[in-house]
Amino acid sequence: MAKKGVIMKFFNREKEINEILLILEEEPNNIYFIYGPLNSGKSTLIREVITNRLDKSKYIPFFIDFRTRNILNVDNFIECLFEVDEKSKIDDFREYAKSLADLLVKGSEEISKYYLGMPIKIPKPFFDRIFSKKDKSADVYQYIEYLFAKLNEKGKRPILIFDELQMIKEITLNGNRLLLWSLFQFLVALTKVQHLCHVFCLSSDSLFIEYIYGKAELKGRVDYILVDDFDKETALKFMDFLAKEKNINLTNEDKELIYSYVGGKAKDIYDVIVKLKAVKDLKYILETKLREELNHLEELLENVEEDYEGINYDDVLKALKLFKDNYELPKSKIKRKIRIFLIKENILFLNPQKGILKPQSFLIWNAIKRLL
Ligand SMILES: Nc1ncnc2c1ncn2[C@@H]1O[C@H](COP(=O)(O)OP(=O)(O)OP(=O)(O)O)[C@@H](O)[C@H]1O
Ligand SMILES: [Mg+2]
Repeated sequence: MAKKGVIMKFFNREKEINEILLILEEEPNNIYFIYGPLNSGKSTLIREVITNRLDKSKYIPFFIDFRTRNILNVDNFIECLFEVDEKSKIDDFREYAKSLADLLVKGSEEISKYYLGMPIKIPKPFFDRIFSKKDKSADVYQYIEYLFAKLNEKGKRPILIFDELQMIKEITLNGNRLLLWSLFQFLVALTKVQHLCHVFCLSSDSLFIEYIYGKAELKGRVDYILVDDFDKETALKFMDFLAKEKNINLTNEDKELIYSYVGGKAKDIYDVIVKLKAVKDLKYILETKLREELNHLEELLENVEEDYEGINYDDVLKALKLFKDNYELPKSKIKRKIRIFLIKENILFLNPQKGILKPQSFLIWNAIKRLL
């Protein structure tokens, strides 16, 4: 099979895709948080839905990726939301939104340029004016709301996607606590109140998801979609899928061995199989990967031993040892301070819906078991 450019073949995730497609069929009613451990395939999944599974005659996706920019303040946040139309002389946002809506509805050419979804265009004079104001976000929200209302009038439903939303947590911590809340209020208005667009927020930061989950103000306005690492059966199928694509032979023993090291983490399985093309020694590849994790964990423990932000070394060891015989544990088994430390360091992943902790990956799990 011919491979086109860098476009990667997508595997499975039918359950999650159907869940998202069913949500899209209904009136927008919730802000959806797509969460899961590091590198589980969240971004890949939503990209697949947008590029290949969406009825483009009904929806207009807008994709905003916070990871690609440094977001230190509210200005950065606003810049991230838009693509400035430098040529436009229009200062009145309603006038511009009307013509943009027309363009988006008619302009298949324009849309097909952006296979991942459109940026939200904004006319330069209006954009500049926003920046001269003290309360910038009010104008920003008003513009987006107006544009989305126009699209709905024309029978198109916008989909707003924020990847790596937790990146704006930093600004919130830098004293602008209001930003996150004004954004959520706006998103609630767009979904539950006005039903103008679908909203999906992606994040692998489980402390951020836990923070959202704990907010009483968001109860009944937010829902969650877990994109977890593959279970064993699916992981073995994914190996077959990749092996076929990369023209590699894998025996059942090979697959079992890969699973025992990296489990169902899409990215790790992918890396191992790609390496296999050049390095034939599977055991060596897996041991090298585990060694990396071991080094990282050893270094972290060394830092804690030398007193790291007041985290007690013995407490950390005790917490990690709990995972020697368990892959998953209720979060209450580990003291809050230690738990938060291990999640921040990407050693553990927290599922706030289930209240369960587990290692971020099988590799980390194996490192814990070997080291302790
Ligand atoms: N369904 C899939 N089919 C094929 N490859 C996949 C799939 N899901 C994930 N991958 C592989 O795993 C890698 C990591 O996926 P992705 O970047 O989507 O994870 P993520 O959960 O968004 O990560 P992060 O936690 O960093 O946000 C991809 O680059 C791809 O190689
Ligand atoms: Mg991602």
